[in-house]
Amino acid sequence: MNRPRCETDDASLPRKARARLGRELARWAAIAGLAATLGCSGATTRQNTVESEHEPQANPAAEVPEDVWLDRIGTGEQQLARVCERGAKDRVATVLCDQSKNRIRSLPELYRALRLEQPEDRRVAVTTHSLSLSAKLVSSANPRVFVFAPNTAGTRQLDHEGVVATAFVRGEQLVELAALDPATYELNFYLLRFTQPCNEAGCTAEDLLTERIEASWTNWSLYSEHELQDTPLDCISCHRPFGAGSRKILLMRQVNDPWMHWGDFRGGDEQMCAGTLPDGVKPQVIATATGLDLLRALEGAKGRYAGVLVSELQAALSGENISDFLVDAENLVRASPVPPYPYEQLTFLTRETLCERFRLGTSPSWDAGRRESVLHGLPQPFYGPDLLDAEQHARLARGRAVLFEAGSSNSAFDVASSLISAEAAAAVGFVPREQDTAAEILRGMCVRCHSHEAEPGSNRARFNVEALDRIDPATFRAVSARLTLPKTSPKVMPPRRVGELPDWAISRVLDHLRDRCVEPGACP
Ligand code: HEC
Ligand code: HEC
Repeated sequence: MNRPRCETDDASLPRKARARLGRELARWAAIAGLAATLGCSGATTRQNTVESEHEPQANPAAEVPEDVWLDRIGTGEQQLARVCERGAKDRVATVLCDQSKNRIRSLPELYRALRLEQPEDRRVAVTTHSLSLSAKLVSSANPRVFVFAPNTAGTRQLDHEGVVATAFVRGEQLVELAALDPATYELNFYLLRFTQPCNEAGCTAEDLLTERIEASWTNWSLYSEHELQDTPLDCISCHRPFGAGSRKILLMRQVNDPWMHWGDFRGGDEQMCAGTLPDGVKPQVIATATGLDLLRALEGAKGRYAGVLVSELQAALSGENISDFLVDAENLVRASPVPPYPYEQLTFLTRETLCERFRLGTSPSWDAGRRESVLHGLPQPFYGPDLLDAEQHARLARGRAVLFEAGSSNSAFDVASSLISAEAAAAVGFVPREQDTAAEILRGMCVRCHSHEAEPGSNRARFNVEALDRIDPATFRAVSARLTLPKTSPKVMPPRRVGELPDWAISRVLDHLRDRCVEPGACP
């Protein structure tokens, strides 16, 4: 990642971050804080060195790219042994490496094993718009659910061993996990991958986008962040924002209320914009939102989603719950004997965005946030509450059968990601906007994985998007080949879960690179 390693350059940053993390000052710095640290980057870019074969293999038909990447790493017992050999002491490792506790066949059983099953032992949070690994699958019709240990507001104190969180969205046979190791005070990240009976013949969208995905698992495999590093599922490309050698952190893009994209958001009026109204004037509505009503319509009032009752999800103060969990976890680590370290969240300014858009029809704060996100190769939270357009929202409210109307040919990934409106997809950065330059497209879609921070020796280190003042013919050919692969290929770039480049954007990028070819005419 292109972020600076400021801990060596700017000794004052950890102190500032520490001061901000007191309980009373629980909400973190805004974008400006992170932007200010950017100036301290002393990193020099280096030219790509490209030795080995660049050509992607022939495209295997309609495989799930994630399966291809993970199968290559390993599966089952052998893979579990590899993870457990690391000897981590966080709750995920101690539970899943313990044979007496690791017979898990459903999401509720995973929660039980992790001691997150009973409502009094856990907090939950739901987001209707994620900026994470699963961003493209998440919407108010298919939200992402977090289950984590209760914080200090709950019945028990959060302790080191109690920092544990799961994240799940329907559509993929994956559960993301994070937990704090009480021996090292390191946060460890894991991906649990499971299979269902449908894996035998090939799972349909319905198998993966209904409650079926949450039970009857036939098997599971566990991956630690270490094995995922040279795949597009790399956790630390986001969860270690200050680069190699710095600490991993938990993330949240909306640390301040109002928590617009979280399960309990119900819109707001002008009072959200700091009460500038003359006496007697009724505040106007600046945003409308329906919380988890759509989920309830799809699953029924007694339904379950992510192995949790919809009623429990609806009752949760989602934004506040997870924000408190992050602050408590961070304060625990800061109070431990670890040396000071940099910490910021790339915050999205919800209130400013809503209020500016209400007054001006546009939001300078949001625009600045988007530029900042693009620099980091990250998506930017949408400026509106709902990623579905009104028509789509109303269509879905009639029942989830409409999700599968197109028949069984569409993958779960396509069904879930196609719910997101074209306006939202372009604003967030899942697809480029017409006005984006080639350099912006390359940065926004590639730099998170292809910067000078990419681990030396890894495959992705062979392409560095920060060193493209000049490009050699082999790198040009590799880029050109990767960009033009079919959208479902495990080798297509950017990986489909990150974004998609339409033909006009591919041409724009390749023209830009061709102009920088070290040998004129050698980059066809
Ligand atoms: C593209 C950046 C990105 C990548 C890659 C990523 N995450 Fe996250 N993660 C986030 C963001 C942003 C959040 C905050 C909630 C949201 O937006 O959904 C988050 C939230 C989480 C949470 C909930 C606790 C918290 O930090 O808020 C867990 C658990 C988690 N991620 C695990 C993982 C694991 C495991 C991996 C790798 C398999 C991973 N993440 C990869 C961006 C990322
Ligand atoms: C989420 C992470 C991620 C993003 C975003 C991403 N890539 Fe990659 N890329 C990888 C990984 C991992 C590899 C190595 C595995 C492989 O070869 O598929 C790779 C490999 C490549 C290679 C082959 C390098 C070689 O010589 O073997 C090229 C070229 C490439 N990516 C170009 C791009 C371009 C261009 C973009 C943006 C439009 C992009 N990638 C976005 C993860 C990513």
